[in-house]
Parts: sequence; structure tokens; C-alpha cells
Amino acid sequence: MWSIVILLILSILAYVVTDELIPKLKDLFIKAGLYGIDLCKSNNKKIPEAIGVVSGCIFLVTSFIFIPIAFGNGLMERELFPHNEFAELLAALLSICCMLLLGFADDVLDLKWRYKLLLPTVASLPLLVVYYVNFNSTTFVIPIPLRQWLGSSINIGLLYYVYMGMLAVFCTNAINILAGINGLEVGQSVIIALSIIIFDIIELRGDQFKAHMFSLYIMTPYLATTLALLKHNWYPSKVFVGDTFCYVSGMTFAVVGILSHFSKTVLLFFLPQVINFLYSVPQLFRIIPCPRHRLPKYNAEMDLLEPSRTLIVKKEMTIINKALVQVLTILHLIDTIEDSESITINNMTLINFTLIKLGPMSEGTLTAKLLIFQCVCTLIAFLIRYPMASYFYDT
Ligand code: UD1
Ligand code: MG
Repeated sequence: MWSIVILLILSILAYVVTDELIPKLKDLFIKAGLYGIDLCKSNNKKIPEAIGVVSGCIFLVTSFIFIPIAFGNGLMERELFPHNEFAELLAALLSICCMLLLGFADDVLDLKWRYKLLLPTVASLPLLVVYYVNFNSTTFVIPIPLRQWLGSSINIGLLYYVYMGMLAVFCTNAINILAGINGLEVGQSVIIALSIIIFDIIELRGDQFKAHMFSLYIMTPYLATTLALLKHNWYPSKVFVGDTFCYVSGMTFAVVGILSHFSKTVLLFFLPQVINFLYSVPQLFRIIPCPRHRLPKYNAEMDLLEPSRTLIVKKEMTIINKALVQVLTILHLIDTIEDSESITINNMTLINFTLIKLGPMSEGTLTAKLLIFQCVCTLIAFLIRYPMASYFYDT
């Protein structure tokens, strides 16, 4: 239990250091050309970009300092040293560290989308190797209603590793594409981290005690440094977090999900990101044109955000395009403006969807509404995980 108290003290220190360091390093980032323009403001001020590297580094350093404390007992009695658990923690930190480096490279070099998919796959390899050595359990428990057809469990072998690799790719990119308004990337990550921590605390009483302690060891310093980042990134943002932050966060959630064996629960906490991804599919796969930025359009006169749009030329539309636009319009999922030559539809993100349904609003209000939705989804996730899980699994 002492280790948790020390972890809390270290995390509070990490919060203070991150909070102090960010304003001090801002100018250094701008001087190095690492800045962006806030597209939802009328001033063209340079805002330092990729500040996620600061919080990410402090998070990793805190975790490194904590290693001898987490394994204190094992260090005293060397024969009993838990090599498996040690390898797990090192692999987890290595994967997160890889993602920090690759994310920063993306911020500096502005990589193409195909590389954004490749980077998390590469970074998740240390994790998968440790999983293979320590557990190599590739069995899925089948939900009760499906058992009469599929049996009680199914071993999917190599496919399980593909699933875990894809989970890392999904988690990293899903946060990055639900972004573009002040505080949203960091805000959603704070809520997901808090949800995982609450889940860990509930499960500490169970037989998976060790796995949830491991998750807490990673999530607590992550949450502390992310909260400090949120303070500076909240509306009106003084810093942008960059892809570095989105990648580090996604990988952190994937790591705890995989190594603590609750990847399905992590996916439940990602409900808004899953919805945003599914809604984005037509644009991500270029069935519908996808501009470089899909964030909302700023109306400077009213100081409000409106949905941003993409133009589809009617002559260039294939049968698939036409059918898709028609179905989405009938389902009231997109807002279309049509003339004789073209159709403009809203960019398909959850952010723009909120603006279509609730009307234009200020940036701060929009972020707050989306974060409330994230909290509601966490409640739904807990409802599915606890009261409803008994209908699907033997709990
Ligand atoms: C992803 C999204 C893109 C969205 C962008 C915003 C997809 C396929 N890509 O691209 O649609 O526009 O994130 O982050 O969905 N910015 C702001 N205010 C903010 C945050 C960012 O104006 O609160 C702008 C700044 O100009 C900043 C830039 O977005 O420099 C960062 O964009 P970047 O992270 O490079 O975009 P992507 O991750 O490639
Ligand atoms: Mg980004």
C-alpha cells in the first residue's frame, strides 16, 4: 500500500513540474518553428504546438523513478524478484516512449496518414512480445447468448495479436481525429483516464488485483501530467498538444487495456471515439472528399462555431457516393446544401454533428458539451460492465 502513497506524492510533484515547465518552454517551441494558428479565433497568434512532449516526458520520468519503488520488495530478496511483472512494466513504458518519439516526429514532419497507421503498430511490438512470453492467452470468452453456437470460448491464435495491434492503432488515432477545438483532446483523455482509474479501484478487491495495480501504476502519473496540460490547453488555449499527446495517450490506454486484460472495457470508455470513427469512415477512406482540416468553421462576427463543410461535385459522384449521401440524409446524419452542380455536406465528425443538431455555439460551450457526452458514455460503459455484464458473461 505504501507504493500507492509514494505514487500519489510523485504524481502530485509531476503535476507541479509540468504546470511550471509548460509556460517556461513555450517560447522555445515557437523559436524552433513548432507552432500552429488557432483556426477558431480571429487573431493569428502563434500558439506553441506539440506541448504533449513536455507532459509525456514528465509522465515517463515519473514512471521511471517509480520503478524501484514498485519492485522494492523484490529488490530486497533477489531470488523472489518478479521478472515477468518487471518485463511487463518495462515493455509498457517502452511502447509509450516509442509513441512519444514517433508522435513528435509526426508533429515536426507532418507525416502522411498511412504512416500514422504504421507508427502505433511498430510501437506496440514490445508490448505484444511481452504478452506472448508472459500470457500468450489468445482465447475470447463467448457471451452467454452466443454459446449454443460457438461454445464457451474460442481460441483465435495469431488473430488475437492482430486485434491487440489494431487496438493500439485505433486508440492513438481515435483521439487524434476527435480534435480541433480547445481542450477536447486533453479533456477526453482525462475522462477516459479517470474512468480507468475508477474501474481499477473497484476491481482492486477482486482476483485480478495485480493487473489493476499495474494499471494504476501507469494511469496515476499519466492523469497528473495530463491535468497540468489541460490547464494550459483549456479554452482559450495557450498551447496546443500536438499529435505527440494523442499518440502517447492512445498508447497508454492500449497498454493498460492489453496488459491488465480489460481491453474490451477500455473500448467501452472509448464510445464517443468509436462513434466519431464510424461516422468519419466515409471521409477517412475518401469515399467522400476529406479536407486537411475538418474542425468547425469560425464565425468571427458572432464569435460562434458553425459546422465546416466539404464540397462534392455532382459530375464526379459515383453510384456509391450518391447512395451514401442519400442514406445519410434520410437518416438525418448529415446536413446537405444542394445546387445544380454540387452538394456540400458537413465534415463528418462528432464535433460538426453536435453543431448541426444543437446549432452554432461558442468554442468553450462546444468542448464542455462534448466532454459531458464523454462522461455520459462512461456511465453507460459502467452500466454495461457491471449490471448488464451478468446477462452476457458468468460474473
Ligand atoms: C486531425 C483531423 C483534422 C483536424 C485536426 C485538428 C481528421 C482526419 N484529421 O488532423 O480534421 O482539423 O486533427 O487537430 O479528422 N487546432 C486548432 N485548435 C485546437 C487544436 C488544433 O485550431 O484546439 C489546429 C491548429 O492549427 C493546429 C492544428 O489544428 O496547428 C493541428 O492539427 P494536426 O494535429 O496536425 O491535425 P491532424 O492530427 O493531422
Ligand atoms: Mg492531431
